[in-house]
Amino acid sequence: MEHYLPSLFHGDAKYYLQSLHAFRAACIKYPEYDQWEETIFQQTVVSKLKSALDEQGELRVMGVGSGSGERECKMLIKLLQHFPRINIRAVEPLQEQLVKYQALTKSKTSDLRGVNFEWRQQTIEEYEKVEEPTKFHFIVAVHSVYYFDNLEDSLMYLHSILEPGGVIFIDMKSDDSGLVRYWNHFAPYFHSKYNFITSADVRSILDRHGIPYSQHHEWSRVNITSCFDDASEEGSMVLDFLNHVTRFKESAAKDLKQQVLEYLASSACSEKSGDEILLINDCDTIIISKPLK
Ligand SMILES: C[S@@+](CC[C@H](N)C(=O)[O-])C[C@H]1O[C@@H](n2cnc3c(N)ncnc32)[C@H](O)[C@@H]1O
Repeated sequence: MEHYLPSLFHGDAKYYLQSLHAFRAACIKYPEYDQWEETIFQQTVVSKLKSALDEQGELRVMGVGSGSGERECKMLIKLLQHFPRINIRAVEPLQEQLVKYQALTKSKTSDLRGVNFEWRQQTIEEYEKVEEPTKFHFIVAVHSVYYFDNLEDSLMYLHSILEPGGVIFIDMKSDDSGLVRYWNHFAPYFHSKYNFITSADVRSILDRHGIPYSQHHEWSRVNITSCFDDASEEGSMVLDFLNHVTRFKESAAKDLKQQVLEYLASSACSEKSGDEILLINDCDTIIISKPLK
């Protein structure tokens, strides 16, 4: 059986982003997704920040693995309703992503009036080495913690640069999901540098350090029907993103490929909806609030 497969993130950045895009296009958001900013974000982040901080002062925000910034911009627009002056430092290693983020901010200039952006083309590990110890009121990491070199070190670092009264928001794969059952089965064979970590790993680190948090579970499905069509380039890219392996269908041994597809389609990982196969891709948001001294 093939054990060494090429890592998606550590190869061609352009292909990584195409594969991320194919995955996002196949994602089916949970029914309440659009209200999310109004409900959960309002309750868990905005009201906590409002009660702890001076609304007239500048709100300092850090984005960790900001990507092309869609999710962060939505949050900033929500935060602007209460904090008219915001400074965000977006830490993102891929230049292609920062360029897209910058273009997005230009297209939303009037919605984002009051926000000052600082761009850092760095990993969180590089940032930690070189930056002065600025503290932040709100730190957001959406689906980026899997890429940290050392999850515990980086989480503790982020906690150390959080202001008292501040909030850390981490969105990631839930340990209670079909995708994670799939990872648990097959990730060792991919031999990837990607860390197949889940919300359970983050919770156990926080528990060990006595850091309180709350968690919110989110329903999510990915339409993976095209992964089973050998002629579908889009399906190959979705599968590559799930595995974090470049060109899995070409690189993996035949028996591994067959086992992977069989297990992916099984009820351990997926649901059937008519002719479609929907991977259970539930996520968890973990909210850490630092008490005021
Ligand atoms: C799955 S994308 C999520 C992007 C964005 N947060 C979003 O939700 O659209 C993960 C991002 O983490 C970035 N990343 C990879 N390694 C990182 C590291 N060590 N520190 C910070 N960000 C990293 C990647 O470049 C990528 O843009």
